[in-house]
Amino acid sequence: MIAATVGSAVGLGNIWRFPAEVQSNGGAVFLAIYILCVLLLGIPVMLAEFSLGRAGHSDAVGVFKNLKAGKCWWAVGGLAILASYLILCFYMVVAGWTFEYLWQSISGGLFSPEVGESASTHYVMKMESFVTDSYNPLINTYMMILINLVVLLAGVQKGIERISNVMMPVLFLILLIFIGVSLTLPGAAEGLEFFLKPDFSKISATTVVNALGQAFFSLSLGMGILITYSSYFPKDAKLTRTAMTVSLLDLLVAVMMGLIIFPAVTSFGLSSEGLRGATLVFITLPEVFGQMPMTQLWSILFFLLLTVAALTSTISIAEVSVAFIRDRFKMKRWKACLIVLMPLFVLSALCSLSLGPLSHIRLAGFNIFDFLDNMATNIMLPIGSIFLCIYVGWFAPKTMLPDQLTNNGTIRSRMYRPVLFIIRYIAPLLIGLVLISYFI
Ligand code: PFF
Repeated sequence: MIAATVGSAVGLGNIWRFPAEVQSNGGAVFLAIYILCVLLLGIPVMLAEFSLGRAGHSDAVGVFKNLKAGKCWWAVGGLAILASYLILCFYMVVAGWTFEYLWQSISGGLFSPEVGESASTHYVMKMESFVTDSYNPLINTYMMILINLVVLLAGVQKGIERISNVMMPVLFLILLIFIGVSLTLPGAAEGLEFFLKPDFSKISATTVVNALGQAFFSLSLGMGILITYSSYFPKDAKLTRTAMTVSLLDLLVAVMMGLIIFPAVTSFGLSSEGLRGATLVFITLPEVFGQMPMTQLWSILFFLLLTVAALTSTISIAEVSVAFIRDRFKMKRWKACLIVLMPLFVLSALCSLSLGPLSHIRLAGFNIFDFLDNMATNIMLPIGSIFLCIYVGWFAPKTMLPDQLTNNGTIRSRMYRPVLFIIRYIAPLLIGLVLISYFI
């Protein structure tokens, strides 16, 4: 049970998105606020979702119906599903990038610079010209959508999940090895300082909103997925322990990525200017591999693991929408799969092209990719979570949260009172304030 939930939480959010956010939000200050967000808000909101899911025993919309909540509460589940779908649109694009880098590692193309090109410029040029290209990223995104379609239609997601459960510990181990390599690079200390030594004068509302959004994204909160997962949790599962384990492991993987990326960034002198956050990992990691014996082997192994991690995440995000459409509209599974995945051929394509040929299209100052990411991650997930906390804290049956946290009184839960306090007051107020200050 913990493995499945960790499988959903650990993904591109930790490996790709977290370092990119740290990079563009001033380094260690972001990390400090991020850790606070995970501990103070992430774990309690996760417990709210777990309790709701196990008590309501259904999908993100169905739980409210089963718990006999008033009609408008269903909208909270609806918002979660919509947010998860928007996230899927751009997540699929990045999943495509990992796929391309897997092929490039196998063919060796990733590690063969042009004549006269230094290694550092090679990796920057490679990624920049790849993401801005019209066809290449699109083809890879389409490949990932097709793989998702095949897996969902064949109903073998359990198989993929099992493979991923074996592969995740391997990923963890090789990240440890990469940390060792990265920390011993010349000039590593400067990068470490950027990542670990906060300058609190740099805090702004944007930093806090971004950290909060990243925490929700990374823990898969506010998307309806944990509600759905926890409806399958056994009665004697200890929710508090599960939430803490999942959150801390997820945090650990993110911090490990920071320890790999930032020493490498300063060591290789990749200037942060002109370097898109979104492409950071795809540029620095090959640099690290280049420092290791058997470069290609490490690269293949890493991108293979990352592609599988991305696949388990895209499948579980898509599954939220498939389950919803199938249940609500009483539709056959294959039809629901097509309805969910077909529009991605257009929507994900728009996201992908918005980094290249369509970069002139601006929505609220962002390209389409960043706009969807910002809106879904930084705005919709937190808003959904506020309402979720208000429901669980104030409107759900009074015995729901204590019963779920203590397994109907059979175990003690010291966390119950603080969690209830946070869910009732702190989380809605704090998240609300952060959002308001972001807009004014
Ligand atoms: N939490 C995942 C990550 O950090 O990559 C993303 C994710 C997976 C979100 C599955 C939602 C989900 F249902």
